[in-house]
Amino acid sequence: MSVHKSDVKKVTTHQLQNMKERGEKISMLTAYDYSMATILDAAGVDVLLVGDSASNVMAGHETTLPITLDQMIYHASSVVRGVNRAFVVVDLPFGSYQGNSSEALRSTIRIMKESGAHGIKLEGGAEIKESIVRILSAGVPVMGHLGLTPQSIYKFGTYTVRAKEEAEAQKLIDDALLLQELGCFSIVLEKIPSELAKRVAEKLQIPIIGIGAGPHVDGQVLVVHDMLGINKEFKPRFLRRYADLHTIMTDAVQNYVKDVKSKDFPNEKEAY
Ligand code: KIV
Repeated sequence: MSVHKSDVKKVTTHQLQNMKERGEKISMLTAYDYSMATILDAAGVDVLLVGDSASNVMAGHETTLPITLDQMIYHASSVVRGVNRAFVVVDLPFGSYQGNSSEALRSTIRIMKESGAHGIKLEGGAEIKESIVRILSAGVPVMGHLGLTPQSIYKFGTYTVRAKEEAEAQKLIDDALLLQELGCFSIVLEKIPSELAKRVAEKLQIPIIGIGAGPHVDGQVLVVHDMLGINKEFKPRFLRRYADLHTIMTDAVQNYVKDVKSKDFPNEKEAY
């Protein structure tokens, strides 16, 4: 027996597949905490990604490598509590799945049990085939991630556009086909040429979500702090800023400081 907590129609992998088939673009954003998740979910975002970019935007690390499985579970469970409709995907953090499929399955089961998320994402293609097979055999939806894969940043050396050369482009296409064949429900393509992303989205039946991969894919994902303009320094060409929260928040906090210093806050109506 299942217990339904709300009447809202939840997004499922099946619905995401239908969206691709009828040409409806999929919207996806990152989320790391309860309050933000409630806003994004109520605003109609289809997929919330508890990205390991939490390592950068929440914890201030330079890369995604330091974040731990426990920390990802903490972020994921906070997001799940804020969601009624969206499909919640959680990144398996660096070191929790590469090279050992038993560990990959253990990490996934911890995420699913302890956070209540709906699926996981991991970076890579043929190299992590065994881990993907093992996770899928446990009935957990898996999203792939190809192109610029930030957990391999020390191998790449830079965050520049990937797969510009034919050999790397061909490997990306082969990996995408493999991920689909294994049973992944979707793939994120990060920072690759638009034409290559288009080829992949046309060749594959499963939804392809892009970040810096141009308009010819089945959906888009952005880091929420970047698109809301909380983070001022990060300005890649693919980023569209929908708000300038950095300025709005700075003004608000400066006004608060001014009001406290001048004894304007709290006034009589704001006291008991
Ligand atoms: O961790 C993350 O935010 C991601 C997105 C960039 C796709 O993986």
